[in-house]
Amino acid sequence: MTRHNDRIMNEQLPSDIPLMYSAFADWWPLLSAPQDYAEEADIFLRTIRHNSLRPVKTVLELGSGGGNNASHLKKHFTMTLVDRAENMLEVSRRLNPELEHIRGDMRKVRLGRTFDCVFIHDAISYIKTELDLAATFATAFSHLEPGGVALFTPDHVRENFRAQTSHGGHDGPDRAMRYLEWVYDPDPTDTSYLCDFAYIHRDHNGHIQCSCDRHQLGLFSRQVWLRLIAEAGFRAQALPFEHSELEPGSCEYFIGIKESPKK
Ligand SMILES: C[S@@+](CC[C@H](N)C(=O)[O-])C[C@H]1O[C@@H](n2cnc3c(N)ncnc32)[C@H](O)[C@@H]1O
Repeated sequence: MTRHNDRIMNEQLPSDIPLMYSAFADWWPLLSAPQDYAEEADIFLRTIRHNSLRPVKTVLELGSGGGNNASHLKKHFTMTLVDRAENMLEVSRRLNPELEHIRGDMRKVRLGRTFDCVFIHDAISYIKTELDLAATFATAFSHLEPGGVALFTPDHVRENFRAQTSHGGHDGPDRAMRYLEWVYDPDPTDTSYLCDFAYIHRDHNGHIQCSCDRHQLGLFSRQVWLRLIAEAGFRAQALPFEHSELEPGSCEYFIGIKESPKK
């Protein structure tokens, strides 16, 4: 059920949503806990403040998921959150009840208003073609005030992609989950890679359930990112992502500045 201040945008939403964001969305805070996002949210806060050519009060986050980054950034900005998965919006509403949530697809949503900043975190990794990436940058540009900055933070660019395996998860008060994440690129000639997950969910009775979930994600070179951001109308720049849990040089992200028209 939608609440009075929420809206459903773009009725034609795709049915290819992974289990993580549909059937298992309710487990999201045990897979990826809000407190784990404090350091990166602080990096994004500093990037926004340093690069925006205007004071930043309002931020639109596209692909906001469970609202983990937003739970930190909302202390500094008024945030509007958009995601295509209704179950993830529901998780985020519980964490961020004071924020506006809207269902929509970052490639085509049009809210009819503008913001000081547009932020797309790891959700942009789900964009798998240059056409869709260009459409996503057009969405960001059309929602940004002149002088505003957009941040795009893919998990990988082609140049720093490495096949890898990792695991994680958390214990909740009455249930717990763990996962194994296996990242690899079966076809280096196309613009996508795979992230296969194995989940173990332990319910409040101690019963376990194991499941698999495949996520197909986009992989583009730095030059493609910069070109498409610039073609959308932004001044584009790549920045190193320096985080205590990451090897220096292993990750980068992009900003697009919407310069004010010359008078
Ligand atoms: C890893 S989660 C984002 C988590 C988020 N960074 C946070 O802080 O909680 C990825 C999200 O991207 C959303 N997503 C994927 N493709 C999308 C699209 N085309 N438009 C809008 N949301 C999308 C998924 O529904 C999912 O909720």
